[in-house]
Amino acid sequence: MTNVLLEKKDHIAVATINRPKALNALNSQVLEDLNELVEQVKADEDIYALVLTGAGEKAFVAGADIGEMSSLTKAEGESFGKKGNDVFRKLETLPIPTIAAVNGFALGGGCELAMSCDIRLCADSAVFGQPEAGLGITPGFGGTQRLARLVGPGMAKQMIYTAKNIKADEALRIGLVNAIYPVEELMPAAEKMAATIAKNAPIAVRACKKAINDGLQVDMDQAIVIEEKLFGSCFETADQKEGMSAFLEKRKHEPYQNK
Ligand code: CAA
Repeated sequence: MTNVLLEKKDHIAVATINRPKALNALNSQVLEDLNELVEQVKADEDIYALVLTGAGEKAFVAGADIGEMSSLTKAEGESFGKKGNDVFRKLETLPIPTIAAVNGFALGGGCELAMSCDIRLCADSAVFGQPEAGLGITPGFGGTQRLARLVGPGMAKQMIYTAKNIKADEALRIGLVNAIYPVEELMPAAEKMAATIAKNAPIAVRACKKAINDGLQVDMDQAIVIEEKLFGSCFETADQKEGMSAFLEKRKHEPYQNK
């Protein structure tokens, strides 16, 4: 992976999209590297949470690569959209929690990448937007779908139709991000949150993610059954036994073992 750096710290992985000269814009190569990242993280049972950020001081990701898109045919455009959508869906359904640490511009495909993560934290300098309509296209890596689900259809339509960017405080107000930090505090905060998540029972955390994500796709009657099954799947695990014994014995639990 030349365009994505991966670093492991204890049970946390920190991935950095690394194409700062083009503000980390997503060309085909970056999408392939992101795909490889997701595969590697998924295969590594020691990673319990992933933080995703952008290299350089200006951008998380400034969008899909406009140079590469400029001469695409209709069929090639559709297939480029599919390429991004496939990777982002893989990221969204990665079993472990993911945190986007948005350190600057998150425009177009960058906003869409952040929305494919479970949690978004951002720097006070972050800027979000879906500028595609101003370029003659629609959002193409899930923006029309995930933005509407995250902030509601009215606000999503306003952002997408006007193609106007918003600053961090507005992103917080509409629920697009969970929290804002001074830029130098962003990565420590994201890693601290990932470490807090990683201390909980990994099987349970993964089941929580699956229950929320899968449950949101179906009606409530089906959703609570999804929860029941995942709730049940945690019992008889070593970590469930240790967690509950520790509570009953009024002691701190031993570090969880992912078993
Ligand atoms: N694609 C390709 N290159 C990009 C890029 C992009 N999305 N965004 C920035 N770059 C490149 C610039 O071309 C420039 O390269 P050169 O130095 O070789 O000229 C370099 O990154 C630095 O960018 P700027 O000089 O423009 O930096 P700035 O500080 O003046 O502006 C910016 C920053 C406001 C983010 C501006 O770069 C910008 O508007 N970028 C495009 C944002 C955008 O429209 N994104 C959506 C793309 S469409 C999409 O993403 C579709 C989809 O849903 C899949």
